[in-house]
Amino acid sequence: MILATTGLSSLSDTAREVDHAFYLIGVASAIMMAMIVLFVLYCIVKFRRSTTPTASQFHGNSVVEIICLIVPTTIVMWMFWVGFKPFHTMRTPPKDAKIIEVTGMQWNWSFYYPDYDVTDSKLTLKGGEPVKFLMRSKDNDVLHSLYLPDFRLKEDCMPGKTTTMWLQPDMPTTNERPTYNVFCAEFCGKDHAAMITTATILTPDEYDQWVAAKIADKNKPVVLDVAMNPESQDILDRKAETLYKTHCISCHGANGQGQIETAIPNARNFTTLADWKQGSKLTDIFNTLGSGVAGTQMASYSHLPAWDRFALMHYVASFYKGDRPEYTKEDLALIQEKWLNQQDGPKKTIPVDDAIEAMIQDAQVSKLN
Ligand code: CUA
Repeated sequence: MILATTGLSSLSDTAREVDHAFYLIGVASAIMMAMIVLFVLYCIVKFRRSTTPTASQFHGNSVVEIICLIVPTTIVMWMFWVGFKPFHTMRTPPKDAKIIEVTGMQWNWSFYYPDYDVTDSKLTLKGGEPVKFLMRSKDNDVLHSLYLPDFRLKEDCMPGKTTTMWLQPDMPTTNERPTYNVFCAEFCGKDHAAMITTATILTPDEYDQWVAAKIADKNKPVVLDVAMNPESQDILDRKAETLYKTHCISCHGANGQGQIETAIPNARNFTTLADWKQGSKLTDIFNTLGSGVAGTQMASYSHLPAWDRFALMHYVASFYKGDRPEYTKEDLALIQEKWLNQQDGPKKTIPVDDAIEAMIQDAQVSKLN
């Protein structure tokens, strides 16, 4: 009831179990508090000084003591059980759960689907299919926390350690495909509040179509002279401004002025390319998007489709106050050789050892049952 008025939905059996425990314990606590308050009021009236001026002295009453021991203990154990059941469910992913690798970074989320080798900044789920999240923060990043309120799930992300949680979304029952909030619930710096994305639940058919479209998009062959033309339809279709707002703006600012605008140390100023450590050619932007910059917050964006990276390259270059940056045939050959012939280069997945460790921890919790 209370949760419904906040616009939250319960999108899995586990979420409903959590709600059930929440209401049960909430109502039980309210009843007990009412009983205690009423008893205190009764005593205040009944044994007030005007009617009972002398306090009666008595010593011990085994029956009352035993009742006062057994009843609260039973209630507390029952409450523990009510809370432990959904907790245990939440900590025990089904064996056939699909893996989604989650990476939190200042200040956005990345979801990698290893079964399809697909990455997205939004969470897309298949109705009825259990998924297990392997979660961490980007190396050298800070703590984040993946919070899915409609699934009643929240878990910290840390650099260098994998945490897990799992869910099994309900199958959509209508033709609408609402988006649900995905928050960061750990204060992680200036744009913590903006570290928001969405989750959608699709039917299996729709999900397969989504996967196919993502794969096709990622593998769409790049025609270099089209990709190098900022006015070409293929580049315009990429909506570079949206990409920039999703991936770059938090460090490099709305006007590309980097540190001056955002106070992120060493965030590159795109308006004066001369400051760039890696030179000042147009293609350097593309290369940097692919490789990241070691030892800085600038991560590799090689998981983005190559076309997206070309569109971002043009967008970033448009901040430059001088003439359009140059590039040579050799620069293009390098891009062809380094990034396009092998499409995306080696995938950076979450180390398996950590995942196994996380599963062992889960198994230990399930042994408690
Ligand atoms: Cu990430 Cu708050």
